[in-house]
Amino acid sequence: MYMLEQEFVWWKHGVVYQIYPRSYKDTTGNGVGDLQGVIEKLDYIASLGVSAIWLNPFFASPMVDFGYDISDYYMVDPLFGNNTDLLLLITEAHKRGLKIILDMVLNHTSDQHPWFTEARSSKDNPKRDWYVWRDKPNNWESIFGGSAWEKCPFTGEYYYHAFLSEQPDLNLRNPEVVEEIKKIFRHYMEMGVDGFRLDAVNTYYEDAAWRNNPELKEGSDLSSHSVAGQRRVYNYDHYLNYSLLDDLREVTDEYPNRLILGEVGREGKDEHAWKKYYGSCNRRLDLVFNFDLLYGELSGGRFGKTLKAWESLQYCSWPSYALSSHDQIRAISRVIPDQDACPWGNRGKLLAVFLMTVRGTPFVYYGEELGMPEYKGLTDEQIQDPWSIRNNYTVPTRDGCRTPMIWDDSKHAGFSLGSPWLPVHETYKEINAAAQQEDQASMLEFYKELIQLRNGTPALHKGDLEIIIDEGDFLQYRRIADGEVYLVSLNFSAAERTVEDTGKVVLSSDRSVEGIEAYGFEIWKLD
Ligand code: BGC
Repeated sequence: MYMLEQEFVWWKHGVVYQIYPRSYKDTTGNGVGDLQGVIEKLDYIASLGVSAIWLNPFFASPMVDFGYDISDYYMVDPLFGNNTDLLLLITEAHKRGLKIILDMVLNHTSDQHPWFTEARSSKDNPKRDWYVWRDKPNNWESIFGGSAWEKCPFTGEYYYHAFLSEQPDLNLRNPEVVEEIKKIFRHYMEMGVDGFRLDAVNTYYEDAAWRNNPELKEGSDLSSHSVAGQRRVYNYDHYLNYSLLDDLREVTDEYPNRLILGEVGREGKDEHAWKKYYGSCNRRLDLVFNFDLLYGELSGGRFGKTLKAWESLQYCSWPSYALSSHDQIRAISRVIPDQDACPWGNRGKLLAVFLMTVRGTPFVYYGEELGMPEYKGLTDEQIQDPWSIRNNYTVPTRDGCRTPMIWDDSKHAGFSLGSPWLPVHETYKEINAAAQQEDQASMLEFYKELIQLRNGTPALHKGDLEIIIDEGDFLQYRRIADGEVYLVSLNFSAAERTVEDTGKVVLSSDRSVEGIEAYGFEIWKLD
């Protein structure tokens, strides 16, 4: 193993591995992954060279939105195990040098949370003000479809929900709620948790005067803060969001070396918006989760554009990069949309080289290290995602990127002895972790080599970045630290390219050719 330098900051210089626990490894045979499954796979995870694991929510929940509807913040849902399993997971992860990041859903709870069942029971219940109530709805639309207001049968008032009606928004203006959140944070940090991924940060607060959102004018930018034909001027990116994050920063800082990472969304985001969430010199969020490359087809030009935008942030706002997540189509299936399986040629590896050599924290979504593709063509009966179901399947399902991890070529790809909650991708016979561990040319072994190179090379994990060429289909940048300079060349085109510089090739898609082949890449250490 390489030696990490003293100033190697885990959340900044290391790589984060995202696990959707439902789909990672099932040890009970109920078809759903669990915490014991993650524990079982810790050696595998450590072998990737990553520094931390971000786990999607596993707290007690009716699972209407698969854990993003929490009914008890202090309990592991029995589907995933129990609190002892969580403690063991933290201990075992730490033994292997892995940090643990929990997913904290603070914008809303489940409608089954006792706070809400109390709150809705009467207008004078002490918990009433823990949620957002109004006697009549305004025009705000829910992100998951339909009005964002639901009439409460007990009191006749309406409660606000940015997402599903089963996910009522907490009233974060209420100091008691904020105190409770701090308590939850302290509880998990005491337990040894190393950081939090904050869900849906943009939607924390709403306009106090309940003004209607304006309609989206024809021809205006659809992606800009919009939902169902309206611009979310009054219930998105509210200025109080920043002050709650400042409070969370303060509580997080009570414990050393902890991370807060915010899901800040993509709509209408630019450098100015990100900066506000970072605060001055990362004093608010440590990391803003980068959505730029999570959507749409991944042609060459997008990488350079994203890189320039994030490099234009001041140097003290440390960027993050992700290509896939539990909400989007897997990157490998967007870069090669017409191809569903092996071989990927270089293109999957090209993505990985970008991710691991830019200035910022890379996030790897489970299975990405294997080139696991999106599951396409799930039938209506197979689809589980409430966002899609509630919209009569007109919204594409998020299930295609949430299918079970492909461990080996046994039944259900070694994920479960029972019947998996989502089907296993049919390519698992060829693409699986066990087979790739045996194959030096595999995506998995490539990921390991790349992460090892990154971890062991200060220029790559902490160095400055200088863009040299950005031609859309050809991207070249230098990384510089401690007197060392590395040159990264990424060829997103189908034509060969040459590199003009002198130095030593440290990684290359094909060392036998003179230039850089189609969809090829090279990393050089310059003289
Ligand atoms: C999560 C989604 C979830 C939503 C509501 C997000 O942005 O990533 O998976 O459905 O928040 O909690």
